[in-house]
Amino acid sequence: MLTKKQAQVLDFIKTYRAKHGYAPSLEDIRQKFKLASGSTAHYYISKLQDAGFLNKEHNQPRAVSTVEAKQTIEVPILGAIAAGQPIEAIEIPDETITITRDEIGKQGKHYALRVQGSSMIDEGIFDGDIVIIRKQEVAENGQTVVAVIDDNEATLKKLYRENGRFRLQPANPTLFPIYRDEVEVRGVVVKIIRNLESQLDQGQSRDEKYVRKIDYSWDYRGEKTKSHTHGIHTYPAMFIPQVGRRLLETYSKEGDTICDIFCGSGSALVESRLIGRNAYGIDLNPLAIFLAKAKTTPINPQKLTREYLALLDRVEKIKDSEIQRPNFKNIDFWFKDKVIIKLAKLKKAIREIEDKEIQNFFMVAFSETVRYSSNTKTGEFKLVRVKGDKLEKHDPDVIGIFRKHAEKNIAGMTEFYKDAKKDFWTKIIYGDSSKDNGIKANSIDCIITSPPYGDSRTTVAYGQFSRLSAQWIDVFEDPNDASGVDNNLLGGRASKSLIHALSSDYLKESLEKIAKQDEARARDVLSFNLGLNECLKQAHRILKPKKYFCLVVGNRLVKQVRIPTDFIIAELAEKIGFTCEDIIVRNIPSKRMPIKNSPTNIVGALEETMNKESIVVLRKN
Ligand SMILES: C[S@@+](CC[C@H](N)C(=O)[O-])C[C@H]1O[C@@H](n2cnc3c(N)ncnc32)[C@H](O)[C@@H]1O
Repeated sequence: MLTKKQAQVLDFIKTYRAKHGYAPSLEDIRQKFKLASGSTAHYYISKLQDAGFLNKEHNQPRAVSTVEAKQTIEVPILGAIAAGQPIEAIEIPDETITITRDEIGKQGKHYALRVQGSSMIDEGIFDGDIVIIRKQEVAENGQTVVAVIDDNEATLKKLYRENGRFRLQPANPTLFPIYRDEVEVRGVVVKIIRNLESQLDQGQSRDEKYVRKIDYSWDYRGEKTKSHTHGIHTYPAMFIPQVGRRLLETYSKEGDTICDIFCGSGSALVESRLIGRNAYGIDLNPLAIFLAKAKTTPINPQKLTREYLALLDRVEKIKDSEIQRPNFKNIDFWFKDKVIIKLAKLKKAIREIEDKEIQNFFMVAFSETVRYSSNTKTGEFKLVRVKGDKLEKHDPDVIGIFRKHAEKNIAGMTEFYKDAKKDFWTKIIYGDSSKDNGIKANSIDCIITSPPYGDSRTTVAYGQFSRLSAQWIDVFEDPNDASGVDNNLLGGRASKSLIHALSSDYLKESLEKIAKQDEARARDVLSFNLGLNECLKQAHRILKPKKYFCLVVGNRLVKQVRIPTDFIIAELAEKIGFTCEDIIVRNIPSKRMPIKNSPTNIVGALEETMNKESIVVLRKN
């Protein structure tokens, strides 16, 4: 593997040699890269030697010489893998890592994952490491595999077949094995990469304009996140209800009117209703709007149960000749014929429910049924079709899936109906938050939101995730329009050039670093930030003076450049008329780490890892 910094050091050594006829000293390297000490420079030299990019005969820096370039490959980093409790298998190609072919062998396709958790420490796999996986569907006893179990949960464990079942064995004596009758192997670990470099970089903190406070009390490790209507439908990057609630309780009061300008499936809106806030939600994805409405509309569960039983009766009686197949492009690619027939019967039976709110409620379970019975890999946000044997054998129990979701959803609604405050309203607007959506100026008491992490093309494709459901449940007049959603979201269309007037030094620095490697990616990042800046302006317009605007954001990596979105937002917002009062860092939900005696509010600590997200607290001047 060659990390960005290592590549820069290698480049420097090559250029220096070409110019001077001899290699640079450790001190030359230290000065060039503003490293804390000569030993850090030495660390890079030995890494380059280990990776085979520098000759190893003499361990003296002046004696280093570059060797012939080795055959390298770019391995996509597809997300995170739990070396602990299994987490939902989600693949979001975010960046790549360069390694030499020698390190992983000549054969096979590979991908990389970041490790979370400590269940494999006896195998030398630690939290924060990157593992390179060779794709394969079978593994030998004792190999360390990426295993997918249950409802699409992925974990990294040693695999053993015994007594007709599988044992997934952690390499940590304090943890128990997991036993399953079925395990899907997605590959075998062929290399572990320890990211010591980022630890070294962290030591060299610079004077930042803002301070991130690490506060573990925001983690809500192990807490239930699917209470009330929160669990009725999956949606990418949902708010942890506890985070939403705590922000609402801290920065607004009962009776206030709040707004979530990127409301997604409506988690913050559900919490608002539970603690007595009126709420506006805005989103540009029609499926999100549909879900947010269903999640925030209290319905008497007894009525739901009555309609549910009648609905199951009706479905049984619908004949094949009575159904209407939906008409959208590639339907036969994504669904088997008999699945289409069953879904169409279910949809017809739901559409026959007279009460529109109850109809929509069951459409939510139907939407999940569409996703789970389609030919897609359900753990991925992007649409990827299952292949070969798996596709052949794919025979989903459509009605069974629907029943499971509908019954779970009725239980969730029962809780929401009981706890939702009756005298408050929720209004959900289909709109673009970078524009005026009709909310009056200076009318909102608090804005709580979580914007996308980046442009939908290279981060989470909300539109793509929603497409098949949206096409089945008729949220578009023409279902074929469903494929256009992502282009309209923040950063959906790359900027034409890198010229801009945004006033953020952090953004400028990130764009310069990314553009050096890939100008098109830099234009994607700029486009996202241009859109975000317009959203900040609109937020400023609708918020009352002296009131709070909280954004939960991720600092993503693009081309190995960490983009400090939290600092960028703070800089942009201060130009618009906000003051940044706080930046709190929390461990992100699926990436919780066991930390004993966690300290809170460590002011001044700087964090640069993937496992965190920042809560930026702005106040209108
Ligand atoms: C991180 S998600 C929000 C998830 C939400 N907090 C939840 O719990 O479900 C970000 C949302 O921003 C929406 N979005 C992206 N660009 C937008 C824009 N310009 N205007 C309004 N919404 C937008 C996406 O459709 C997505 O639903």
